[in-house]
Amino acid sequence: MKIAIGADHGGFELKELVVALLREEGHEVLDKGCFSSDSVDYPEYAEKVCSSILDGEAERGILICGTGIGMSLAANRHHGIRAALCHEIFTAEMSRRHNDSNILCMGGRVIGSALAFEMVKTWLATPFDGGRHSRRISMFDKGFE
Ligand code: RB5
Repeated sequence: MKIAIGADHGGFELKELVVALLREEGHEVLDKGCFSSDSVDYPEYAEKVCSSILDGEAERGILICGTGIGMSLAANRHHGIRAALCHEIFTAEMSRRHNDSNILCMGGRVIGSALAFEMVKTWLATPFDGGRHSRRISMFDKGFE
Protein backbone atom coordinates (compact mmCIF):
# COMPACT_ATOMS: atom_id res chain seq x y z
CA MET A 1 0.00 0.00 0.00
CA LYS A 2 1.13 3.62 -0.60
CA ILE A 3 1.25 5.34 2.78
CA ALA A 4 2.08 8.99 3.51
CA ILE A 5 3.53 9.65 6.94
CA GLY A 6 4.30 12.83 8.83
CA ALA A 7 5.36 13.92 12.28
CA ASP A 8 6.49 16.91 14.29
CA HIS A 9 9.40 16.86 16.74
CA GLY A 10 7.19 15.15 19.36
CA GLY A 11 6.54 12.27 16.98
CA PHE A 12 9.78 12.22 15.04
CA GLU A 13 11.41 9.30 16.86
CA LEU A 14 8.32 7.05 16.59
CA LYS A 15 7.80 8.12 12.97
CA GLU A 16 11.30 6.89 12.05
CA LEU A 17 10.55 3.50 13.62
CA VAL A 18 7.15 3.24 11.90
CA VAL A 19 8.69 4.14 8.52
CA ALA A 20 11.17 1.27 8.96
CA LEU A 21 8.36 -1.13 9.95
CA LEU A 22 6.23 -0.15 6.95
CA ARG A 23 9.14 -0.65 4.54
CA GLU A 24 9.93 -4.04 6.11
CA GLU A 25 6.28 -4.99 5.58
CA GLY A 26 6.58 -4.12 1.88
CA HIS A 27 4.64 -0.85 1.81
CA GLU A 28 5.62 2.18 -0.26
CA VAL A 29 6.25 5.00 2.20
CA LEU A 30 6.01 8.69 1.32
CA ASP A 31 7.87 10.32 4.20
CA LYS A 32 6.68 13.93 4.45
CA GLY A 33 8.93 14.80 7.41
CA CYS A 34 9.91 16.21 9.74
CA PHE A 35 13.44 14.89 9.47
CA SER A 36 14.96 15.78 12.85
CA SER A 37 13.90 16.42 16.43
CA ASP A 38 14.16 20.21 15.95
CA SER A 39 10.96 22.01 16.93
CA VAL A 40 8.46 22.41 14.07
CA ASP A 41 4.74 23.19 13.69
CA TYR A 42 2.56 20.08 13.39
CA PRO A 43 -0.18 21.64 11.13
CA GLU A 44 2.38 21.90 8.32
CA TYR A 45 2.96 18.13 8.36
CA ALA A 46 -0.73 17.33 8.76
CA GLU A 47 -1.34 19.41 5.62
CA LYS A 48 1.34 17.53 3.64
CA VAL A 49 -0.11 14.12 4.50
CA CYS A 50 -3.74 15.18 3.95
CA SER A 51 -2.88 16.66 0.53
CA SER A 52 -1.10 13.48 -0.43
CA ILE A 53 -4.28 11.48 0.26
CA LEU A 54 -6.72 13.98 -1.25
CA ASP A 55 -4.56 14.27 -4.42
CA GLY A 56 -4.52 10.47 -4.78
CA GLU A 57 -0.77 10.15 -4.23
CA ALA A 58 -1.23 7.99 -1.12
CA GLU A 59 -4.03 5.61 -0.11
CA ARG A 60 -3.65 6.13 3.64
CA GLY A 61 -1.74 8.35 6.04
CA ILE A 62 -0.15 8.21 9.46
CA LEU A 63 0.44 11.33 11.58
CA ILE A 64 2.39 11.42 14.81
CA CYS A 65 2.94 14.31 17.22
CA GLY A 66 3.55 14.33 20.97
CA THR A 67 -0.02 13.41 21.90
CA GLY A 68 -1.58 12.85 18.48
CA ILE A 69 -4.18 15.49 19.38
CA GLY A 70 -2.81 18.41 17.36
CA MET A 71 -2.32 16.25 14.29
CA SER A 72 -5.85 14.84 14.49
CA LEU A 73 -7.41 18.29 14.98
CA ALA A 74 -5.49 19.72 12.03
CA ALA A 75 -6.09 16.74 9.73
CA ASN A 76 -9.84 16.62 10.38
CA ARG A 77 -10.21 20.21 9.10
CA HIS A 78 -9.69 18.78 5.59
CA HIS A 79 -12.87 17.59 3.87
CA GLY A 80 -12.53 13.94 2.95
CA ILE A 81 -10.04 13.22 5.69
CA ARG A 82 -11.13 10.95 8.52
CA ALA A 83 -8.27 11.00 10.99
CA ALA A 84 -8.55 8.72 14.01
CA LEU A 85 -6.50 9.38 17.13
CA CYS A 86 -5.89 5.98 18.72
CA HIS A 87 -3.85 4.79 21.68
CA GLU A 88 -4.67 1.09 21.51
CA ILE A 89 -5.50 -1.68 19.06
CA PHE A 90 -9.30 -1.88 19.50
CA THR A 91 -10.00 1.70 18.45
CA ALA A 92 -7.44 1.45 15.63
CA GLU A 93 -9.40 -1.54 14.29
CA MET A 94 -12.83 0.05 14.85
CA SER A 95 -11.74 3.29 13.20
CA ARG A 96 -11.34 1.26 10.01
CA ARG A 97 -14.44 -0.94 10.38
CA HIS A 98 -16.94 1.77 11.36
CA ASN A 99 -15.32 5.08 10.36
CA ASP A 100 -13.26 4.16 7.27
CA SER A 101 -10.42 6.21 8.78
CA ASN A 102 -7.88 7.22 6.17
CA ILE A 103 -5.36 8.62 8.64
CA LEU A 104 -4.14 7.03 11.87
CA CYS A 105 -2.90 9.55 14.44
CA MET A 106 -0.72 8.47 17.34
CA GLY A 107 1.08 10.16 20.22
CA GLY A 108 4.81 9.61 20.27
CA ARG A 109 4.88 10.65 23.94
CA VAL A 110 1.89 8.44 24.80
CA ILE A 111 2.54 4.96 23.42
CA GLY A 112 5.60 2.78 22.93
CA SER A 113 6.83 1.51 19.58
CA ALA A 114 5.73 -2.11 20.12
CA LEU A 115 2.11 -1.05 20.64
CA ALA A 116 2.32 1.44 17.77
CA PHE A 117 3.55 -1.33 15.44
CA GLU A 118 0.61 -3.60 16.34
CA MET A 119 -1.83 -0.74 15.92
CA VAL A 120 -0.41 0.16 12.50
CA LYS A 121 -0.49 -3.47 11.31
CA THR A 122 -4.09 -3.93 12.50
CA TRP A 123 -5.19 -0.59 11.05
CA LEU A 124 -3.68 -1.36 7.63
CA ALA A 125 -5.16 -4.86 7.48
CA THR A 126 -8.72 -4.01 8.58
CA PRO A 127 -11.33 -3.28 5.88
CA PHE A 128 -14.28 -0.88 6.17
CA ASP A 129 -17.56 -2.62 7.09
CA GLY A 130 -19.61 -0.32 4.81
CA GLY A 131 -23.40 -0.58 5.01
CA ARG A 132 -24.96 1.76 7.59
CA HIS A 133 -21.50 3.19 8.32
CA SER A 134 -21.26 4.55 4.76
CA ARG A 135 -24.47 6.54 5.32
CA ARG A 136 -23.14 7.98 8.57
CA ILE A 137 -19.84 8.98 7.00
CA SER A 138 -21.58 10.65 4.07
CA MET A 139 -23.50 12.78 6.62
CA PHE A 140 -20.30 14.55 7.72
CA ASP A 141 -17.63 13.84 5.15
CA LYS A 142 -18.38 16.90 3.02
CA GLY A 143 -18.03 19.09 6.10
CA PHE A 144 -20.40 21.51 7.82
CA GLU A 145 -20.32 25.13 6.67
C1 RB5 B 1 4.77 19.77 20.69
O1 RB5 B 1 5.42 20.13 21.87
C2 RB5 B 1 3.39 19.21 20.99
O2 RB5 B 1 2.56 20.27 21.37
C3 RB5 B 1 2.84 18.50 19.78
O3 RB5 B 1 3.70 17.46 19.42
C4 RB5 B 1 1.49 17.85 19.95
O4 RB5 B 1 1.45 17.03 21.06
C5 RB5 B 1 0.34 18.76 19.85
O5 RB5 B 1 -0.83 18.34 19.92
